[in-house]
Amino acid sequence: MKAIVVTDETAGTAGMTLVERPEPAPALNDVVVQVHASGFTPGELTWPSTWADRLGRDRTPSIPGHELAGVVSALGYGTTGLSVGQRVFGLTDWTRDGTLAEYVAVEARNLADTPGHVDFTVDASLPISGLTAWQGLFEHGRLQAGQSVLVHGAAGGVGSMVTQLAREAGAHVIGTGRAADRQATLDFGAQEFVDLENDALEDVGAVDLVFDVIGGDIGKRSADVTRTGGTLVTIAGPPEARPVDGLAIDFVVVPDRGQLGEIVRRVRDGRLRTVIGTVATLDDAVAAFNPTERITGKTIIRVRP
Ligand SMILES: NC(=O)c1ccc[n+]([C@@H]2O[C@H](COP(=O)([O-])OP(=O)(O)OC[C@H]3O[C@@H](n4cnc5c(N)ncnc54)[C@H](OP(=O)(O)O)[C@@H]3O)[C@@H](O)[C@H]2O)c1
Repeated sequence: MKAIVVTDETAGTAGMTLVERPEPAPALNDVVVQVHASGFTPGELTWPSTWADRLGRDRTPSIPGHELAGVVSALGYGTTGLSVGQRVFGLTDWTRDGTLAEYVAVEARNLADTPGHVDFTVDASLPISGLTAWQGLFEHGRLQAGQSVLVHGAAGGVGSMVTQLAREAGAHVIGTGRAADRQATLDFGAQEFVDLENDALEDVGAVDLVFDVIGGDIGKRSADVTRTGGTLVTIAGPPEARPVDGLAIDFVVVPDRGQLGEIVRRVRDGRLRTVIGTVATLDDAVAAFNPTERITGKTIIRVRP
């Protein structure tokens, strides 16, 4: 099968190459999925899980990309709950070969059914941003209707999902970003916008929950705009400050079939939208991940037309 591989940790996306690889065999409780569309996050290439397995053994050449939408083509021993021919989407294990390939072996429990009129390109764009937003808001942030949420990077991949889900849950949403992100942030449903380069973050006051995707100085200052006893949730690495008498929670997104179902239902009925920037074929994927100009929105690889 055709697949993108990486072998050199220092090369970043420029080190991606398109090669022929053997088709994967399903392990216990796995399915093999014929990939129709694949999503990739550049950050993956800096994570240890791309280069070594759980025991620290070198696993290069490794296939990156961990989001997929496709059709189940084989079942492993003991696999239940999915059928050959079923259309699925989901998030694959960070320490196994990923989805920038014609086929991927993945634990069945990491996938959900794609209901209704299936658009593989849209579904492949949902798992990381959708699950991260859901888990940060509702599991780690324990958001309640009527609370206030400060969402950093609110026009970006994760932030736009956070903004939409928080509004739907009845929160008051303050989005942040660069000046150019104002309108997009308001369009996603934020009631207020803070331009991080020109406005004073401290003017926001005391919010119940901060969802940080930026980290660094912004993350540190965010603890001070969280009310006493409030929560700072971050996906940008270990937090450097904690709200007074509150929590600072750093987490990494995990696969969850039930939550994937919640997300895709909202996309189908128009309550949630995703921003796709570039759609390219597997043959053009390396160029798509090394753009010569800035693109906004997620890059999705259509592995099957
Ligand atoms: N821990 C986890 O489970 C997890 C899950 C998903 C993502 N992540 C990480 O979370 C981060 C965000 O992911 P994403 O997909 O949402 O990225 P994204 O689509 O690039 O969104 C980030 C947004 O924040 C804005 N931004 C960044 N720095 C800023 C600053 N200093 N001032 C104002 N605006 C700023 C960006 O604007 P510009 O584009 O103009 O910079 C962009 O709009 C990435 O580092 C990603 O690797 C972690």
